[in-house]
Amino acid sequence: SAPVTVPALFEARAAGRRLAMLTAYDAGFARTFDAAGVDLLLVGDSLGMVVQGHGSTLPVTVDDIAYHTACVARAVQRALVVADLPFQADATPERALDASTRLLQAGAGMVKLEGATPNKCEVVRFLVEREIPVCAHLGLTPQSVLRFGGFKIQGRGDAAAQALRDDARAIAEAGATLIVLEGVPAALAADITAASPVPTIGIGAGPDCDGQVLVLHDMLGLDSGHRSPKFVRDFLVDGGSVAGAARAYVAAVRDGSFPGPEHSYR
Ligand code: KIV
Ligand code: NA
Repeated sequence: SAPVTVPALFEARAAGRRLAMLTAYDAGFARTFDAAGVDLLLVGDSLGMVVQGHGSTLPVTVDDIAYHTACVARAVQRALVVADLPFQADATPERALDASTRLLQAGAGMVKLEGATPNKCEVVRFLVEREIPVCAHLGLTPQSVLRFGGFKIQGRGDAAAQALRDDARAIAEAGATLIVLEGVPAALAADITAASPVPTIGIGAGPDCDGQVLVLHDMLGLDSGHRSPKFVRDFLVDGGSVAGAARAYVAAVRDGSFPGPEHSYR
């Protein structure tokens, strides 16, 4: 079927068709997930943890993401490839432009960056004006691990919830095309999605986002040396194979059966 494009994301949302996204870091998984109908493949800086074995995403470099993006992009026919801007690659507009150009030239169709401070909004505006589609990532942003003091659910309490709503509005106004919401209460993610002019993709953000994303290791029940968050589900159990697991994941996202209440935060 036709390649997934930026306009196709908005068409899916308008049609009420949920978007299924998984991480991928190499050609084998990318080919399998693409064939299973996964709409978006994320070359996430989670690779620092699940591929490189670090305790956080902070050691990941632009070279790392560019290498894995090229590996993934070569294998994909349909899915939209999104590549993470790693820690500090989005610190200034110029740095972000250089890094994003490399990632698009490696085969990505969109870059992703964390946060919605005035600085990040300026970076998003700068990239979008230069024809680089940007996905924002809000909530439990792993590059904020030192400030958060760990990987902790965000947006709990009225003030924090309002701050996250304001962030989502600001980053969409800056030009973000897609918003990943990670580790936030389900009701807040539902609110933000209802108010958002752009599609949202949840991870640990309840069932009411426009799509879902998981790290492939979590989707397959593979022990990556980190405590599994409660929002993960092992699709290999029912899927029977990696390809079957990916198809089961896509089906469960599309029909709304994943995530269930047991995978969501209140
Ligand atoms: O790096 C990553 O895998 C991510 C997802 C968890 C959204 O950013
Ligand atoms: Na990431």
